[in-house]
Amino acid sequence: MEFEFWDNCWQRESQPFHLAEAHTFLVKYVEQFFSKDKKIFVPLSGKSVDLVFLSQQGYYPVGIEFNPKAVNRFIQEQQLEFSSQNFPVANGNQLTRHHNDTMEVWLADFFDITENHVGKFEQVYDRAAFIALPESMRADYANHLKTLLAEHATILLVTMDYQPDEMSGPPFHITLDEIKQQFPEGGVEELCRCSLLDSHPRWKELELSRLDEVLYRITF
Ligand SMILES: C[S@@+](CC[C@H](N)C(=O)[O-])C[C@H]1O[C@@H](n2cnc3c(N)ncnc32)[C@H](O)[C@@H]1O
Repeated sequence: MEFEFWDNCWQRESQPFHLAEAHTFLVKYVEQFFSKDKKIFVPLSGKSVDLVFLSQQGYYPVGIEFNPKAVNRFIQEQQLEFSSQNFPVANGNQLTRHHNDTMEVWLADFFDITENHVGKFEQVYDRAAFIALPESMRADYANHLKTLLAEHATILLVTMDYQPDEMSGPPFHITLDEIKQQFPEGGVEELCRCSLLDSHPRWKELELSRLDEVLYRITF
């Protein structure tokens, strides 16, 4: 999706994907699959409180979000103090790295971020990032993400499963087959799922017959 689409979304008071509390899948599985001595990459991080949860638990999350409204709101709402540095990129864009001792948040287009900026990651938490992108962008997303993965990386990937003819997305409908196709080097395993039908008025309005949030683990 283009910047304008998300900017419209961030102009509204509330965003349906934003959660007031840390995601239950993350809370349940983080200790089992992630270690505190390695950074956790959180692509397309919005103003997610998952970043705060991770840092409070002693992990070091590295978020990337290209919308300044989202990043500024995150910093204000969470009352964070950061040091900041700017990095120019060849295409004329600018990246800004906000960081403190407990986390790092980049105001940057995901596709502009390279290993030179953030290093490589063994741990990735992708909630509403891969599924926020249309099919035409998902191969580029997966391929770019792979350039930022260290050997033996683990991705915890949260997707949504619904009848594709009942909603057009985002969130886009992603199948297990597509995940295997986009990450053929990895092993993919479904860890758990739960119904979201009662979780937000938006899903009720759409009268979906089912809507599950699904957690996959991709291991390389
Ligand atoms: C569905 S939201 C999910 C936010 C967050 N992961 C969460 O769970 O609340 C997707 C976010 O991706 C951001 N985004 C979309 N394309 C991006 C890109 N190319 N680079 C960085 N951020 C992007 C949007 O601005 C939006 O905040």
